[in-house]
Amino acid sequence: MNGEGALAVFSRAKELEKQGRSIIHLELGEPDFHPASPVVDAVRSAVASGRDRYCATRGIPALREEITIYLKRTRRIDVRPEEVLVAPGCKMALSLAMMALIEPGDEVLYPDPGFPIYPSFTRSLGAKAVPFALSEKNKFQPDLGEIASKITPQTSVLIFNSPNNPTGTVFDEKALQGLADLAKKHDLWLLSDEIYARILFGGEYLSPWALPGMAERTIIIDGFSKSFAMTGWRLGYGVAPRRVIDAMDLLVLNTFTCAAEFTQVAAIEALRDSTDAVDAMTAEYRKRRDLFVAGLNKIPGFRCQSPDGAFYAWVNIEDTGSSAEEIQKILLEEAGVAAIAGAAFGSEGKNFLRFSLVSARNLLEEALERMNRISIKWRVAVVK
Ligand SMILES: Cc1ncc(COP(=O)(O)O)c(C=O)c1O
Repeated sequence: MNGEGALAVFSRAKELEKQGRSIIHLELGEPDFHPASPVVDAVRSAVASGRDRYCATRGIPALREEITIYLKRTRRIDVRPEEVLVAPGCKMALSLAMMALIEPGDEVLYPDPGFPIYPSFTRSLGAKAVPFALSEKNKFQPDLGEIASKITPQTSVLIFNSPNNPTGTVFDEKALQGLADLAKKHDLWLLSDEIYARILFGGEYLSPWALPGMAERTIIIDGFSKSFAMTGWRLGYGVAPRRVIDAMDLLVLNTFTCAAEFTQVAAIEALRDSTDAVDAMTAEYRKRRDLFVAGLNKIPGFRCQSPDGAFYAWVNIEDTGSSAEEIQKILLEEAGVAAIAGAAFGSEGKNFLRFSLVSARNLLEEALERMNRISIKWRVAVVK
């Protein structure tokens, strides 16, 4: 297994702060928002009223029911409560689904660049992780020809994440239809990580579950960490055909027993979103994206396509003449801007840096100024 690159940069940034340095944190994928106040009130009263016991392994029925209503409203898909399983975090829902579906010797396709846990956890199950590229020249959309050429009789699962971490790409309808056709032709499971589905800067979200014949071979992973700014609550869920949910449920029973009941009660309030907090938050991310991407493209040697969703800027730095690791170091140590070198997300990320748009606009402006000033370093190197 391997870890996640962001945490190493985060601990170095914290060290520098201890020495009195000013650091703008753009390395972690953690929203700088907090849950809406009705959600906080709901958790308080749930604890006060004794909702702090062991509860159903699949998640409390009221939350599973609410998730089906939410998915109908926001994704126009029909899901039954028995096709939903609640877990402590999307990562846990993801790993339960992977444990249920992947056998030793299987091959699993995953996006590069992408969330580093996909290949790591695949390998831990004794399976082979096979990357497919999301390349800049293809606007970070998947290349269906490349994917088709990598499918073998051992391929069992194709994992993807739209909007993608780290590129912010929303897979278009042609890509989704192409993936669905390949899944049907080769009898594959599609593991669709939809954790950023609500952080969308235009259009409607399309889940592969909605495509004809796909509800029986799609697993949706989603949760509360990003869309509802509830990272530390540890709450996510999986949506899958009943027999997959039953297998995941057995894994829950053998491991963590259940997600905390009071967080589940409050999550119902989050899904109802009575204060429209999700739209307000996404509108703010959109403003940050517009400001930051425009500024990044003015920094010598940087180029960045505007992401359609999630809250990351994925920046190609090859024209600086330096490696992403060198630029990461200069930015952190000399400019006080924390970002992550793209290799943390796969080999396709070699010439990229990821910035998270999780700081206020005035801090993003300050980060741009600092980077502009420090860019003299690599400008000199290029001229030499
Ligand atoms: C693509 C993706 N999936 C899953 C997760 C993990 O979500 P959670 O914190 O709910 O476990 C993240 C978090 O960064 C992510 O970026």
